[in-house]
Amino acid sequence: MQIKESMTFLKRFAKSPRRIGSVAPSSKFLTRAMLDRVDWEKARFIAELGAGTGVFTREIVRRARPDAKILVFEIDPALQKMIRDEHPEHKGLTLHSDAQELVKYMNDNGITELDFVISSLPFTVLPPKMTVRILNAVLKALKPDGHFVAYQYSSIMKHVLKKKFSHMKTRFVMFNIPPAFVYDCWK
Ligand SMILES: C[S@@+](CC[C@H](N)C(=O)[O-])C[C@H]1O[C@@H](n2cnc3c(N)ncnc32)[C@H](O)[C@@H]1O
Repeated sequence: MQIKESMTFLKRFAKSPRRIGSVAPSSKFLTRAMLDRVDWEKARFIAELGAGTGVFTREIVRRARPDAKILVFEIDPALQKMIRDEHPEHKGLTLHSDAQELVKYMNDNGITELDFVISSLPFTVLPPKMTVRILNAVLKALKPDGHFVAYQYSSIMKHVLKKKFSHMKTRFVMFNIPPAFVYDCWK
């Protein structure tokens, strides 16, 4: 599974490098860093942006409360298929394409506020207008004090996130290709 996942990811990267933003799926170290600070007992409404081959999705499904509602966003059709094959949609997990449509799909699913949003989106290489639209949608979607966690391969986004959110903490995860900054942000 891991080799197949890595090969599919690499092929999709070769096709659309700016959109995929990375050559390999996230490591287990980055997965833990992204998910360990989430209050899983309280997180009922969750969104994942840029699921890729589903390394985080798998772990979110494992950790989430049984009554959680998880909105998963992945824009690449081949990667979307991988997620759909592994997690057939049910009322707890729905799969969507463009993260810019976060608020629309929340409304369609009867969700008014999100507790937690996790993002793997390559903000620094996406079109800047798209990055702004997605971050604004995240802010609109989160409940007051809601938690947003995002990783990036550089610190370019640090100041943008710091301005947009009321509180932010940064960590660095060495054991990933490439090493990554993890930003925990609270609305
Ligand atoms: C760096 S990869 C991360 C994949 C996976 N979460 C991981 O950590 O291994 C970023 C993913 O975001 C997806 N993506 C890029 N723009 C998107 C958008 N506007 N909406 C949803 N997904 C998007 C890409 O197709 C890609 O799969």
